[in-house]
Amino acid sequence: MAEPVRVGFVGAGRLASRVHYPSLDEVEDAALTAIAELDAERLAAAADRYDVAGRYTDYRRMLEREELDAVYVVLPPHLLHDVVVDCLQAGVHVFVEKPPGVSTYETEAFAWYAQQHGCLTMCGFNRRFVPLLRHCKALVEAAGPIHLAAVRFHKFEAGPQDYGFYRGAVSHLTSDIIHAVDALRWLAGGEVTEAAAHSRALGRPYANAHAALIGFSSGCSGVLLASRRAGARRHTFEFHGGDVSVYCDDTHEARVYRQDCGEPQVIRAADLTDAAHTHHRAGFLAEHQHFIDCIRSGAQPLTNFADAAKTMRLVDQIAADVR
Ligand SMILES: NC(=O)c1ccc[n+]([C@@H]2O[C@H](COP(=O)([O-])OP(=O)(O)OC[C@H]3O[C@@H](n4cnc5c(N)ncnc54)[C@H](O)[C@@H]3O)[C@@H](O)[C@H]2O)c1
Repeated sequence: MAEPVRVGFVGAGRLASRVHYPSLDEVEDAALTAIAELDAERLAAAADRYDVAGRYTDYRRMLEREELDAVYVVLPPHLLHDVVVDCLQAGVHVFVEKPPGVSTYETEAFAWYAQQHGCLTMCGFNRRFVPLLRHCKALVEAAGPIHLAAVRFHKFEAGPQDYGFYRGAVSHLTSDIIHAVDALRWLAGGEVTEAAAHSRALGRPYANAHAALIGFSSGCSGVLLASRRAGARRHTFEFHGGDVSVYCDDTHEARVYRQDCGEPQVIRAADLTDAAHTHHRAGFLAEHQHFIDCIRSGAQPLTNFADAAKTMRLVDQIAADVR
C-alpha cells in the first residue's frame, strides 16, 4: 500500500475535538503527524489521545519542521487569514471549516493562492457529505433532475449576548446559515442566475431572518428560509424531481413519496451509517475521506475554495438588502 497522506492540524478546539480528530483517526490512508495549538492543555489532550509526536504552539514552526502533505486549519473565520496563506505558500493542501473566510474577497484570495501554489483545497460544507442527504439526492436524480429544492435552517437564539458570530466578525448568515445556502447550490446544481431575498433585523441590531428565492442555470428553483427568532432548531430539506419527492431533516430521517402511491418510504440514517456517532451521521467522516481521496488522485475536492467562493457570493446576494 502507498504511504499514508501526512496531515498536520492547526487548532484543537471544540469542533475539531468533537468531529475532525475522530474522523481523521478513522481514515485509513491518512496519518495525523503534527498538531499546532496555542492552548497547552488542548494541545496535550489531542496529541496524547491520538498519539501524535509533532506538538507545536506556533504553526509556522510546524510548517518548517514537519514534512506534511496537507494541513487542516480549524479556527474561527477571523483567525484564518495568515495561517491559510502561509500553508498555501508552503505548498500544502488545505482544509478549512465553514465559513471559508470572513468575506467573498478573502475566500477568492485563498483560491488564488491555492492556484498559484498548486494546492488542493476544501471547505467543510458537511451537509454535502451527510449519508442520508447523499442517498436521497441520488435517489431523486435517478428518477429525474431536481427542479425544486427548499432548505430551512431555523434556530432559537436568546440574546443578544454578542453582535452576530465571534463578536461581530461575521454574520449569522455567513457563519452558520451558509450551510443551507451551500446545500441549495449542491441540490440545484448549475450556477446562480438570479436571486431575490427579503432579509430582516427582528429585534436585534443585525439581520436574523432571511427568505430567498434563487434561480439556477440547471432549471432548478431554490428556496431558503432561515430565522434566528424561531421556536427551536429545525433544519429541513425538501427536493423534487422525476415525480419523486423527499422530505427530510439533516441527519435522522427522510420520507420519500413516489407518484402519489400511498404511504411514503421511510429511510433512516441508521439504515445507511453508524448513526450513533455524530461524525458519521453528520458527514464529517465522509468529507475527510473525500479530501484524502482527492489528495491521492490529484482531483480538486467538490467544495474547493473557488467553489466555496460561489457560496459566499450567494450569501452576499441574500444579505444585500436588509430591512
Ligand atoms: N460544520 C459545522 O457544523 C460547524 C459547527 C461548529 C463550528 N464550525 C466551525 O469550526 C470552526 C472552529 O470553531 P470552534 O468552535 O471549534 O473554535 P474553537 O475556538 O473552539 O477552537 C479554535 C482553537 O484554535 C486555537 N487557535 C487559535 N488561533 C490559533 C493559532 N494561530 N494557532 C494554533 N491554534 C490556534 C484556539 O486556542 C482554539 O483551541 C469555526 O470556523 C466554526 O464556524 C463548524
